[in-house]
Amino acid sequence: MKQKLLGLALVAFTASAAFSQTLFSTREAKFATGDNSDYKSAEYDDASWRKIDVSRVWDNQGVPADTRHGWYRIHFTPSKADLGKASLKQYLIVDLGTVDDVDRTYLNGKPIGATGSLPSDEGGYRSQWYTPRRYFIPVDDKNIRWDKDNVLAVHCYSGGEPGGMFGQGVSVRVAGIADIASLSCVPAEVKGSPGCKVELKGNLPSSISGKLKLDLVDIRDGKVLSSTVRKISAGNGKTADVEVPVGDNENTVLLATFTETKSGQELKARYEPRYILTPVAPEAPRFNTAAVYGVRPGSPVHFRFGVSGVKPMTFLSKDLPEGLQLNAENGALSGRLMKDGEYTFTVTAKNAKGMAAQTFTLYVGDDKMALTPPMGWNSWNCWGLSVTQDKVMSSAKAMIDKGLADYGYSYVNIDDAWEAPERAADGTIVVNEKFPDMKGLGDWLHSNGLKFGIYSSPGDLTCGAYLGSLDHEKQDAESYNSWGIDYLKYDWCGYSQKHNKERDKETLASYIRPYMLMEKYLREQPRDIFYSLCQYGWQDVWKWGRMVDANSWRTTGDITDTWGSLYEIGFNSQAGLAPYAGPGGWNDPDMLIVGKVGWSDKLRDSRLTANEQYTHISLWALLAANMLIGCDMSQLDDFTINLLCNNEVNAINQDVLGRQADRAVEDGNIQIWTRPLADGTMAIGVFNLGEEGMDVNLAKYFGQLGIGKLNSVRDLWRQTDLDTANPSWFIPRHGVRLLKVNAE
Ligand code: GAL
Repeated sequence: MKQKLLGLALVAFTASAAFSQTLFSTREAKFATGDNSDYKSAEYDDASWRKIDVSRVWDNQGVPADTRHGWYRIHFTPSKADLGKASLKQYLIVDLGTVDDVDRTYLNGKPIGATGSLPSDEGGYRSQWYTPRRYFIPVDDKNIRWDKDNVLAVHCYSGGEPGGMFGQGVSVRVAGIADIASLSCVPAEVKGSPGCKVELKGNLPSSISGKLKLDLVDIRDGKVLSSTVRKISAGNGKTADVEVPVGDNENTVLLATFTETKSGQELKARYEPRYILTPVAPEAPRFNTAAVYGVRPGSPVHFRFGVSGVKPMTFLSKDLPEGLQLNAENGALSGRLMKDGEYTFTVTAKNAKGMAAQTFTLYVGDDKMALTPPMGWNSWNCWGLSVTQDKVMSSAKAMIDKGLADYGYSYVNIDDAWEAPERAADGTIVVNEKFPDMKGLGDWLHSNGLKFGIYSSPGDLTCGAYLGSLDHEKQDAESYNSWGIDYLKYDWCGYSQKHNKERDKETLASYIRPYMLMEKYLREQPRDIFYSLCQYGWQDVWKWGRMVDANSWRTTGDITDTWGSLYEIGFNSQAGLAPYAGPGGWNDPDMLIVGKVGWSDKLRDSRLTANEQYTHISLWALLAANMLIGCDMSQLDDFTINLLCNNEVNAINQDVLGRQADRAVEDGNIQIWTRPLADGTMAIGVFNLGEEGMDVNLAKYFGQLGIGKLNSVRDLWRQTDLDTANPSWFIPRHGVRLLKVNAE
């Protein structure tokens, strides 16, 4: 865990250091243990102190692992002449690397930064070991002793577990523009048309002025289509923003360059228009969901036929099996079937513009759950721990009102932070004040044909430090049943405490045990509960998820809305997992990072570009991944709705053969992932993971793809048939062509 984060910190460091001038760097310090504030003074005599390496935690260097307080002293002489060489002279950055856990840092006796809380602080000890320590000092601060000895003193508190400084070492540099300001583009409507807001933010109390150049460029040949230059300034808590219309042409990109006046240092940002590819749905009814669904015998059926078209719409079935009901207004199927079997019937949907019919099979059997991957919503990527029942409800309503339910989205899942701090006297789990009526919420969802999901942990605490299910598994499963829960995400997290103490903790059995236990009680409930394992892919969970009756298992750590995360989780971590997914049990590369996300009560637009979002949804469709929308659905914009509601793209995800895609080609930046489909055709994603757009000719890869001759090629996003004689396309940076191919 630590190593992984450290890697990321280093990447960020290199990117922002491009313009900065290093004054000093070292891996060596003087070190003493104890909690003595005299140690911060520049004059303190540390001649007798031992030496220590600041790039490795102290317990690797002969310091007892249970040491709590340690002091590092680093002497350095900053050169005024070196400062003179820097083009921007506003701040020095003192970069300590990483500190496990808490630090109080001083320059020549004066505090310059602090991270985390000490036991003596209000609120007590709070670890922040994962936060990189970078402290800023204005270059004109009189406390800096230019061309003389300076002392950087770092008081480090470890909480009694292994600790100390670690990472890339300590450096002092002159901040570059990227350290003190940032330039970004966020989607915005500009005078009624699609555009973006270019924002220059100054992160520190200083002012930044310069020129902002805005070029609209054709991505195919680099030609500048239009260009403007503006003077802007930001800083001192002020953000400068410029609104720019960019249109919705998929072949253009806005390149923004800010040049700081005095130093000539530059910041760059780019913005891809959020172009919509999905054709407008017909006004007449159209069935968009797979024609199969499965339940266990005796379990309540909660299913909604996904049909687009103008409303109102009426649903009817003349050959509905006894025991089932179809809601004529919303297409919700309910009831129970007690006997195993395949129940085939026809459902028609009618509106003012026409009629459509679907022949549908309901499979009833012990092994018939999750015949296709789950589609729905989860509160985590938007609301994080700030989730409330109202927020869940507003997304659930939007699922219906904005038409997502017409495309098969049906699960409404509450993630962490619904639990009260204490159980009832009899041990029953209690909801917190943010969730006044779980049963009412479940009933509302079910009456609309939607499904209800919840989150817990096999540990005593969840990842968000709410109550987990440890030693209360049976009671919790029963509570879930009483609220009408249809989906449980069971997140390892706090279980580590118990696991670490187990004698057989090295064995696979010890990882499987908590999941087996909960499954036993879920199975005892008189309803189907989709069982979603979350333990970040440990112990190759895809190899044993089915053994514990799970319906999906997370294959990686948490996703976030950056290309780096999408690349790592979507492309790097999924290759080779295809054999383990199929009807009943799916690999889960985590939730969708489109729309307004934020993991808190502060939401922002996903930082993925338009092409990265097409790549994301295409890949999740190919991977037969859980399609759980992670944004606030009440704020869905047209681009995101069209991204999530393309019936031909979603049909790949929901294909009843249930074969996950695997990587068939890796050729430089080009990757091709393929997935066989139930109708004998093949879904193909041609991805360009590179930084520049390029032409890709599919014919080059026919050998690797096992294609002799192309009979038809369909572009699924555009829903058009392409020329089989010339299967060559321009694929933009981080972009995709998602195809359905009939080939010999
Ligand atoms: C993480 C999990 C996230 C989210 C979070 C809640 O461990 O991977 O998806 O559920 O816990 O605290």
